[in-house]
Amino acid sequence: MTTDKIFDMLFTSVLHVRGEAIADALGITRTAVNKHIKKLQSQGINIDATRRGYKYINSDTLTSITLSSRIAALKLPINVIVSEVESTNNSVKALISNNEVTDKNILFVAPKQFRGKGRLGREFDSSEGGVYMTLCYNPHNLAVSDSLKIVLLTGLCVTRVLDKYVPNVTIKWPNDVFIGNKKVSGILLESVVNEFIAENIILGIGINVSNVLGDHLSNIATSLSAQGVEVYREDIIVQVTEMVFRELAVYEKTGFDTFIGEYIKRSRTIGNVVTVSSQNGSITGKAVGLSEEGNLLIDNNGKIEKIIVGDVEA
Ligand code: BTN
Repeated sequence: MTTDKIFDMLFTSVLHVRGEAIADALGITRTAVNKHIKKLQSQGINIDATRRGYKYINSDTLTSITLSSRIAALKLPINVIVSEVESTNNSVKALISNNEVTDKNILFVAPKQFRGKGRLGREFDSSEGGVYMTLCYNPHNLAVSDSLKIVLLTGLCVTRVLDKYVPNVTIKWPNDVFIGNKKVSGILLESVVNEFIAENIILGIGINVSNVLGDHLSNIATSLSAQGVEVYREDIIVQVTEMVFRELAVYEKTGFDTFIGEYIKRSRTIGNVVTVSSQNGSITGKAVGLSEEGNLLIDNNGKIEKIIVGDVEA
């Protein structure tokens, strides 16, 4: 599409691009260029228009044009969708069940969600200003029992990205990301399974960036802006997407062994005495490591217990 091509020209130029240069490159008139620029601006894309020409100015607006172009620059086969929806995980699942997915992976982003889903059937606060994204990935022969390791890996990737902006970023098993003693990000993995093989992995990632958190969360959650970090959501989304897809490719070759040392180093759970609650009650003991499947190992008075699902007290 001509509008996308014009955006790409502006996006890749550090200087203003003259209207005539765009018109000549695309074989269209100056008036047509003007119309396309207006279209981009009407979508919230910040374009400086002066006598020197047009220049794209980065902003916090999330649009599929800007995001697609940045993702395309990564040379990863990913379709980008940006839309305000109930839950990005649900939207991706609907695309899968309607056979609307291609061979390409998907990045589905919502500027806000009307009913964001958290782990264990909880709600995830999803007001404007946060990152709400779902990555849909078609693994090659991934057993369902391996999906926990994918979740751990994703938590590790989010941690690495946030670590560039703020200190004291840690992971609470399995995949809550913390800054200090407050949660900043959560991950919800769902999958479409066929005969114990995961055909689609749906990785929902929520990160508090500049969204205002509800009063009920003020003691337990934080956001990047509450930590004094001002960053565009798009920058976070692009970095997390790149990191997750690149590391998933490594995981497919080497398994989780490559990552376990770093996961443990960044963990706020392993090495500490913790209480884990699940449907079967709660147990307290020292978290001593991870099983081969990624389950948490707790030393319960000398007996090592494997925690498959549960809530660790931070
Ligand atoms: C948790 O902390 O319990 C997991 C939170 C996962 C939230 C993300 S936001 C994008 C995706 N869509 C959803 O409805 N949930 C996940």
